Parts: sequence; structure tokens; C-alpha cells
Amino acid sequence: MNPLHCPSFNFMETLQKLALITGANRGLGFEIARQLAQKGITVLLGARNEGAGNDAVTRLTSQGYTAHFLLLDIDDTASIANAVAEVTTKFGKLDILVNNAAILPRRDGTVHSPSGVSQDVLNTFLQTNFLSQVAVTQAFLPLVKLSTAGRIVNMSSSIGSVTITSEPLHKNGPKPATLAYAASKAALNMFTVTLAKELAETTVKVNSIDPGLTQTEAAPPNVGDNSMEQGARPAVWAACLDEDGPTGSFFTHHLQHLVTNPW
Ligand SMILES: NC(=O)c1ccc[n+]([C@@H]2O[C@H](COP(=O)([O-])OP(=O)(O)OC[C@H]3O[C@@H](n4cnc5c(N)ncnc54)[C@H](OP(=O)(O)O)[C@@H]3O)[C@@H](O)[C@H]2O)c1
Repeated sequence: MNPLHCPSFNFMETLQKLALITGANRGLGFEIARQLAQKGITVLLGARNEGAGNDAVTRLTSQGYTAHFLLLDIDDTASIANAVAEVTTKFGKLDILVNNAAILPRRDGTVHSPSGVSQDVLNTFLQTNFLSQVAVTQAFLPLVKLSTAGRIVNMSSSIGSVTITSEPLHKNGPKPATLAYAASKAALNMFTVTLAKELAETTVKVNSIDPGLTQTEAAPPNVGDNSMEQGARPAVWAACLDEDGPTGSFFTHHLQHLVTNPW
């Protein structure tokens, strides 16, 4: 499959491109924003914390990139509406939406096992990692449809793959300890597939991405296979797909190449 770069994305094209990355104040979201900005794309760094969001923007603008802060708490309906209004007024369209913001399981003693996870924990994960992703996408979709080549990237995980998780030898196979997170990412994958089908006759492409285990703040210590730079690359690739690129697919990377993940 294609190497992890954007061969057809030339500089003149990217000058007018606008990308919104949710949860971009740290972790993979920030690195995705940085790599997109490096391609000449104007990036909107969505963050729920104004100070952290503006600090992240400064880290990019001080390197000469074009970046703006967008206040966006994906769990807050009013915040989503305000963010859409701001992008509409200032830019009038959106080319790329990266649904990156999410909550990940912490090692804080909270029970996530299928037999013990509480309704509260399930609600929290399904709200942020699924319902809020749908809400953000629905709210920004009219702006994405105004792009000549809209791209929606849903940050999923191999843990959201029923096939991979059910493999006996997979690290999530023998002890499925993270039902809340896994179910939220599986639901997000279903959103990818159904939305891609709904938009099949448009120029908008929708894909799920598995960044692979990446050593961010959220990941458990010493489990990251990828550097931040590597982890962000599949999402950047999906954000920059040309018109012949796939839609309704699930990708990860292996040895610098995109590979398809099973659902
Ligand atoms: N790291 C991995 O190994 C790995 C593996 C597979 C998939 N992923 C996926 O990759 C994405 C990024 O992961 P990461 O490791 O970079 O996570 P992270 O370091 O914990 O960053 C998560 C980001 O999401 C933001 N966020 C959480 N809830 C939010 C809300 N309600 N509104 C707005 N922003 C919110 C956080 O903001 P605050 O700073 O305000 O908390 C933070 O910016 C996630 O979708 C994750 O599921 C990661």
C-alpha cells in the first residue's frame, strides 16, 4: 500500500487547506497538527483548556507555521456550536476534521473488565469517545461538505477491532480488561463505515486510523512501540488523501507503510 506521505498534495493546494484537530493541545493531536502545518496546511488546534491550547499554538507559530486556537470541549454541546460558528465566520469551510480528542483507560484502579465495569465508566467512555465524536462531526459536516475534498479522520485503536481483540494471542485477547474503551472505539469504527457509505457520492472521505501504541501521556509506561512522530503519520496520511484514496477503511502502519486493519 502507499508509503506514508502525501504525494499528490502540492504546496499550492495546501495553502488554502484548513484542518481542525480536536484535543490538539498535547499528545498525538498536537503532533498531527504539527505535521499537517509542516505541509503548509492552516491548522486549528481544538482544545477545551484555553491556556493549554494557546501554548500549543505558540509552539507551532514560533516555528513559522500557521496555527490558531479553537476553544472546543467535545462533550459540551454549546462549545461545539460556538466552535462551528467561529470557523464559519472566520474561514467559511473546513477541509480536514481529525477527531482525535478522547479519554484513555488510566491505571488508577478503575475497573474496566467486562464483568465489573460500572455503568458510570461505560457512560463516560461512550460519551466522549463515541457520542461526542458523532456530535462534533455532525456539527462540522456542513462546513466539510463545502470543501472540494473534505477528509474526516477518526482516531480509533486496534483495541476497537473485534477481530484483533478476539485473537487468542493478541495482547487484548486473553484478558479483555478495557471493555469501556474498546467498545467506544468499536462504535467509532461503525460510525466511520456508516458515514462513509452515506457520503459515498460526495467528495468527502471518512476513515478510521489506529496510530499503534504510542508513548503519549495517556499510554501506560513503556508500552509505546511508536514515537509520537510515527504515531501521528497514519492520521496525516488519511487527512491528505487524494481523490482516488479510500473511504470507509481502517488503517494502521507497519514498517513505514499503511496497512489495513480488520474491523
Ligand atoms: N497513545 C496511544 O498509544 C494510542 C493508541 C491507540 C489510539 N490512540 C488514540 O489517539 C488519540 C490521541 O491519544 P493520545 O495518546 O494523544 O491521548 P492524550 O495524550 O491523553 O490526549 C488526549 C487529548 O484529548 C483531549 N480531550 C479529552 N477529552 C476532551 C474533551 N471533552 N474535549 C476536548 N478535548 C478533550 C485532551 O485534552 P486535555 O489536555 O484537556 O485533557 C488531550 O488533548 C485518542 O483518540 C486515542 O484513543 C492512542
